[in-house]
Amino acid sequence: MILGRLNHIGVATPSNERLIDSYRTLLRANIIGEPFDLPAQGVKVRFIDAPNTQIELIEPYDDSSPLAGFLRRNPAGGQHHVCFEVPDIHAVVADLKAKGATVLGEPRIGAHGTPIVFVHSKDMGGVLVELMETPRGDD
Ligand code: CO
Repeated sequence: MILGRLNHIGVATPSNERLIDSYRTLLRANIIGEPFDLPAQGVKVRFIDAPNTQIELIEPYDDSSPLAGFLRRNPAGGQHHVCFEVPDIHAVVADLKAKGATVLGEPRIGAHGTPIVFVHSKDMGGVLVELMETPRGDD
């Protein structure tokens, strides 16, 4: 495995719509994706495009969301994860596990429609790291 492109930075917020307003008004962000839900992951998602990456806004889908605990500790929201692309998620998971890293769950389909996993922040200097398989035809 070779570390790939920074795909996005995940930001948890109690309200995607309010934070979109901040990005529009304060930073003049003008390329903002349509909202969509990932109920299986417990989140509502909006992407904001920057020239070299994206910001992924994530809001709890409901009270059972894994994000609910994060927002109890950080009521205003905050930086939640960084996401790097990798060529083959299953090979990466096997490699990580062989090295003793804590991989959270099995590969599953993420916000970009390709398989993702998370690596525990305790292995990564306190930063939760998402790895996503590089979308096909997107290099
Ligand atoms: Co993400």
